[in-house]
Amino acid sequence: MPPTDRVTDNAMDKLVSLAKRRGFVFQSSEIYGGLGSVWDYGPLGVELKKNIKERWWRSMVHEREDIEGLDAAILMHPKVWEASGHVAGFTDPLVDCKHCKNRFRADDPRIKGTPGEPTAQCPVCGSKGTLTAPRMFNLMFKTFMGPVEDQAALVYLRPETAQGIYVNYLNVLQSSRQKVPFGIAQIGKAFRNEITPGNFIFRTREFEQMEMQFFVKPGTDLEWFEFWRHERMQWLTQLGVRSEKLRFHQHTKDELAHYAKDAYDIQYEFPFGWQEFEGIHNRTNFDLSRHQEFSGKKLEYLDPATNERFIPYVVETSAGADRTALVVMLDAYSEEEVAGEKRVVLRFHPTLAPLKAAVFPLVNKDGMPELARRIFDDVRKHVNAFYDDGGSIGRRYRRQDEAGTPYGITIDGQSVADGTVTVRDRDTLKQERVAADRLADYLAGKLRG
Ligand code: GAP
Repeated sequence: MPPTDRVTDNAMDKLVSLAKRRGFVFQSSEIYGGLGSVWDYGPLGVELKKNIKERWWRSMVHEREDIEGLDAAILMHPKVWEASGHVAGFTDPLVDCKHCKNRFRADDPRIKGTPGEPTAQCPVCGSKGTLTAPRMFNLMFKTFMGPVEDQAALVYLRPETAQGIYVNYLNVLQSSRQKVPFGIAQIGKAFRNEITPGNFIFRTREFEQMEMQFFVKPGTDLEWFEFWRHERMQWLTQLGVRSEKLRFHQHTKDELAHYAKDAYDIQYEFPFGWQEFEGIHNRTNFDLSRHQEFSGKKLEYLDPATNERFIPYVVETSAGADRTALVVMLDAYSEEEVAGEKRVVLRFHPTLAPLKAAVFPLVNKDGMPELARRIFDDVRKHVNAFYDDGGSIGRRYRRQDEAGTPYGITIDGQSVADGTVTVRDRDTLKQERVAADRLADYLAGKLRG
């Protein structure tokens, strides 16, 4: 059956509803009314995100000799964030309404007039002259280390994982015996007190990043920048994300972050427009130079081939695991007609699918449930699988289509007689007969990604 066009009408609403119904994503603290722009991953969501992170780690760390992994702590010395420029520069201009107490970004298009002036009008309560002049608001979450809550005990929840890599660059270099050019990769939580979060898990206040910092000799940075830009795009298409929904966007001078000389976003065409979900940045030697200056510790590299000393340039690839999960879910979401019935299917790449297989006894009698259970116990030693004996076989297939499970294994009368089962392919709907004792190899072959 040919795949139909993926859905765009109300696509976000449909996905948010499916995500909750099927246990991909729940709102944080929902029974208390929810916590703004913080989300929890349910049983299927945690598997999907774990698979995305695992594929990223495999391609960035295990398959490359020149990249090492790292897991730095979330809490870091507060000077890190002075050196990185985040204390001074990671800010948004905000205005408050003194009447209704709402807070807005100063460039909120709904504000009429110039905030701070008597004629400016609050977009929520409509009061005139109650908006304060813009004040800079830092996006970093603060907390206190130890029992005394004063300025000296102030620490930040990291707004990016990259800094944990920079401050460990010498440790990794020396302990791994790498030579420039080489990279350090890390997956971890980051926090930003976003003023305008939203669009489900697109912009949240707590999220996960998958970042890699590649340290290169100055002068070779442009070449490496091009290399990584194309590598990252290729990785995404290998995950099955449709290439016509992906594009590069080069940052204009106004868009460049304080540390970047050049930057490209990889954008996806979300239902709310083309938006970034991964960035490739040429950060020059900005971060390492600043850390050298603020820490007083030499961060130069001595090139053993030429005896030259230099502070390496950094080419960064920075992806959000949550935003990538959103891209993967939106791109996989499809509504189709099968035999006159509507089905919702998540066409995940099999390696990303939360469940790889579901096992169904055709009917709950004639030895089928016993054999199905034995087969299920064997299959789940190899892959994440689900057992379902409830309702008609058609309904059971539909449930797994919605979860994005690529293979449905049915145990029927013939299975009891000759030890073969049928395997139904989620996308083509074709069924193949496979010997039950060959199932593990069969699935392994299909799931090699
Ligand atoms: N170290 C560079 C850096 O952090 P960024 O463009 O600010 O660069 C990189 O963030 C990626 O992190 C984004 O492309 C996005 O996928 C993810 N990200 C950033 N802020 C986010 C937020 N508030 N919610 C979800 N993901 C976010």
